[in-house]
Amino acid sequence: MTADTMHASYAATTRTIHPAWVRVCHWINAVAILVMIGSGWQIYNASPLFGFAFPRAITLGDWLAGALLWHFAAMWLLVVNGLVYMTLGIVTGRFRRKLLPVGPRAVLADLKAALTFRLRHDDLAHYNAVQKVLYLGILGTGVVIVASGLSIWKPVQFQELTAFFGGYDTARYVHFAAMTAIVAFLVVHIGLALIVPKSLRAMIFGR
Ligand code: HEM
Repeated sequence: MTADTMHASYAATTRTIHPAWVRVCHWINAVAILVMIGSGWQIYNASPLFGFAFPRAITLGDWLAGALLWHFAAMWLLVVNGLVYMTLGIVTGRFRRKLLPVGPRAVLADLKAALTFRLRHDDLAHYNAVQKVLYLGILGTGVVIVASGLSIWKPVQFQELTAFFGGYDTARYVHFAAMTAIVAFLVVHIGLALIVPKSLRAMIFGR
C-alpha cells in the first residue's frame, strides 16, 4: 500500500458522514416514534377501525388514559425534534445534497441491483436512489402523520386541517395508514441497517 492509498483509506474511515445534529435528532426521533407507535396501538384498541386489535404485550400505557398520556408526551418530542431536523436539513443544504436529485430510472436501477445483491455500500457518504426515495418518503409521511394527528386531537381548533383530511373519521384512517407506512419503513430500514452494520456504526459514532 502506498502512502497515498493509506492516506485515502484513513481519510475514508475518519471522515464525518453524519454530523452530530443528524445523529442526535435521528435517535431522539427513533425513541419518540417507538413510544408513539406503542401507545397509538393501545389507543386504537379502545375503538378499533378494523376487525382486529393489537396484542396487549406490544402496546404501551396499559389502558386508554395511560396510552394517551404517553402519546401526548412523546408527541412534543417528535414534533420539536422533527422541526429542528427539518430546519437544519434545509438550512445546511443536507437534504438537497444527500436526497436530491432522484428520478424513477435511478430508483429502478438501484432497486434491481439491491435485489440481486449487487448494490455497493463502500461509500456511506452517498445515499443510493432507493435510500433517497425511502428517506424523502418517510419525511413526507412524518408530515402527514403529525398533520392528521393534530386534526383528530383538536378537530375544533384545527377544523380547516380536519376538513382537508375529509373530516374527523377519514383523518383517523389517514393517521392509521401513515402509521402502517412508518412500520413498513422501519422493518426495511432496520433490516438494512443490520445487513450493512457499518452504516449503523456511522449513525452512532458519525464515522
Ligand atoms: C429504531 C431503529 C432505527 C435504526 C436501527 C436506524 C438506523 C439508521 C441508520 C444505520 C441510518 C444510516 C443508514 C444509511 O447510511 O442509510 C439511518 C438513517 C436514517 N434514518 Fe434511521 N434508524 C432507526 C429508526 C428510524 C426512524 C423511526 C426513522 C423515521 C421514522 C428513521 C429515519 C431515518 C432517516 C430519515 C435517515 C437519514 C438521515 C439523514 O441522513 O439525514 N430511522 N437510520
